[in-house]
Amino acid sequence: MSTFFAPDRYETPDFTIRCYQPGDGQMSQDSVNTSYEHLRTFMPWAKPDFSLEELEANARRFCGEYLSNQEFALGIFLPDGTRKLGGTGFHLRGQPVENLNAEVGMWIRASEAGKGLGTRVLNHMLHWGFTAWPWVRLEWRCDTLNLASAAVARKAGMRLEGTLRQDERRSDGTRRDTYVFAILRDEYLQDTSP
Ligand SMILES: CC(C)(COP(=O)(O)OP(=O)(O)OC[C@H]1O[C@@H](n2cnc3c(N)ncnc32)[C@H](O)[C@@H]1OP(=O)(O)O)[C@@H](O)C(=O)NCCC(=O)NCCS
Repeated sequence: MSTFFAPDRYETPDFTIRCYQPGDGQMSQDSVNTSYEHLRTFMPWAKPDFSLEELEANARRFCGEYLSNQEFALGIFLPDGTRKLGGTGFHLRGQPVENLNAEVGMWIRASEAGKGLGTRVLNHMLHWGFTAWPWVRLEWRCDTLNLASAAVARKAGMRLEGTLRQDERRSDGTRRDTYVFAILRDEYLQDTSP
């Protein structure tokens, strides 16, 4: 796998999912700073006032990590590339890429949430992940209180494998229980075969 070259772009008529590039900081700043209230409960990294410099630095770091197979953070953009709709990714969470396991993460900007976009993005991430990437297992983890997130995973056909009790801390300091959903390559390809 030392010669693995990750796919870098997935296009649909409604949105493009792609790895970050230098210059993405501005669109990231607009999407996260207008979404703080929407993100803060379940995204520990959220804050109200990201600077352009830190988001441009993040975009460049994500780009470098992507090219070196350390992490696969992805942005969700309008097809014409003028607006960022959210973020997703195939996250290795410390595992080597050779394990072929990744966790799909996601956030949708506040103005686009609750319109079915998260469900469509996850459906496409699973399709992309099992047809163009070599993943054997894709996971989705969420706070048991995050009803929208759990609904997205269920609607995409991921199976609830269990609940980790009080395994993480929320940003307000309380402890959370975490649902672990997953889907395997074989079951995905079997279920979606013609
Ligand atoms: C979770 C998130 C990614 C879902 O994306 P979305 O585009 O808003 O979700 P959708 O519009 O596709 O809705 C999916 C389902 O969740 C349900 N849902 C949406 N918001 C909900 C809410 N606040 N409470 C309960 N259910 C909700 C919808 O009704 C829909 O189910 P249905 O089609 O059966 O009615 C998005 O809301 C988000 O970015 N939230 C903040 C960040 C976050 O929590 N990320 C996930 C971390 S695990």
